Amino acid sequence: MFLKTFGRRIINSPALTRYNTLFTAPMVKFQRRFKSHDAGANEDHNPHELPSHGYYGTAEDDYMKLVLTIMLLPMGYYVFHQLQRFRDEADIRKLPQHLKVVDYYKAAADEIAGILEDEEHDDGSLGPLFVRLAWHASGTYDKGTNKGGSNGATMRFEPESSDPANAGLDLARERLEEVHKKFPGMSKADLWTLAACVAITEMGGPVIKWHPGRKEFDGNTISSSQKGTYVPPNGRLPDGSKGADHIRDVFYRMGFKDQEIVALAGAHALGRCHPERSGYKNPWTRAPTTFSNEYFKQLLETKWTKKNWDGPTQFEDPTGELMMLPADLAFIEDPEFKKYVVRYSKDEELFFKDFAKAFQKLLELGVDIHKSAPPVTYGDGTPPGPNRPTWSYW
Ligand code: HEM
Repeated sequence: MFLKTFGRRIINSPALTRYNTLFTAPMVKFQRRFKSHDAGANEDHNPHELPSHGYYGTAEDDYMKLVLTIMLLPMGYYVFHQLQRFRDEADIRKLPQHLKVVDYYKAAADEIAGILEDEEHDDGSLGPLFVRLAWHASGTYDKGTNKGGSNGATMRFEPESSDPANAGLDLARERLEEVHKKFPGMSKADLWTLAACVAITEMGGPVIKWHPGRKEFDGNTISSSQKGTYVPPNGRLPDGSKGADHIRDVFYRMGFKDQEIVALAGAHALGRCHPERSGYKNPWTRAPTTFSNEYFKQLLETKWTKKNWDGPTQFEDPTGELMMLPADLAFIEDPEFKKYVVRYSKDEELFFKDFAKAFQKLLELGVDIHKSAPPVTYGDGTPPGPNRPTWSYW
């Protein structure tokens, strides 16, 4: 009885009525006619004539519609999913015929891994620069308007290209442009973000789950409406001279919480500051091309004093070789931030796990990622070396 009433309620809902009119009603009509014929047609009912109240009348018909609806829903879902897959795969525009989509990303990642080492650059790796490129491309996101973020690789365009915060990143963009010439089928933003994931894993860090799906504009051009929609104003990235309140303003705008902010900041284990770019000088750790929890250890274990120099205020260790920005020290001055610094300094595995999650979130801000396209990870989490399988899928 309950099922009967419930079934009728579903059948009579406005959405299903529309659906019925389109799909199930004609089938039921056909089925009724066919059945009536079979039964030899009863005398007072012409089988070719519909009853005056329409052909939805009997309880039997209602059940038939319900059964047909239940049968058709999975089919509808399947068709929808397939269409989405075609859309995603169509985005891999110039995909060489012999390669499957996933092989394309895999080959692009291998190409990126191949250009990371560069003796002429800083400490011998372009890895830290690629990480900073992807972070600055993504870190312009504003969750209030759902604008900004890595879509469209907008850092190629004014005013973002000349944001002082992005000084030096033109080198990363140039190097990746070379890779893009070989892999024009993926969007530049997909390439930049994939490069950061590959770099982190190659430098001994965690495997980052990466999905394609970032938008592309035609070649290196952008229409004025695209520009209005996608290119963010300057000033959205954090300022190294400021403290905890500013850091929270910037990262909360993107949708991060304190624990995620601290995890992300752990990337300062990598790379260094350049006087000609930010005005600051020196690396944060002694192994700036190795991804580790060393940044947190340095923050807690080293005595940081104000550097006596002509440049902007920064802090140095007793040797004067390592540095911290005022914004870095905010992570141990603010008790809520410090809680996580302590945790990550003691547990590198936890840091890797939390960083991988937060970094994936960062790279996907504002992006309609192609969940139906093959998601890929570079590496399987074992340390870099000749025997490490370079690819895993989940
Ligand atoms: C509190 C927030 C942050 C501030 C104020 C900040 C500031 C800076 C500054 C001033 C530099 C030096 C740039 C140069 O002179 O070349 C730098 C470099 C770098 N930052 Fe950050 N950053 C922040 C957060 C992050 C995050 C979230 C990541 C990544 C997840 C990151 C990754 C890097 C890397 C890898 C470098 C080294 C780049 C290189 O060696 O060329 N930073 N950051």
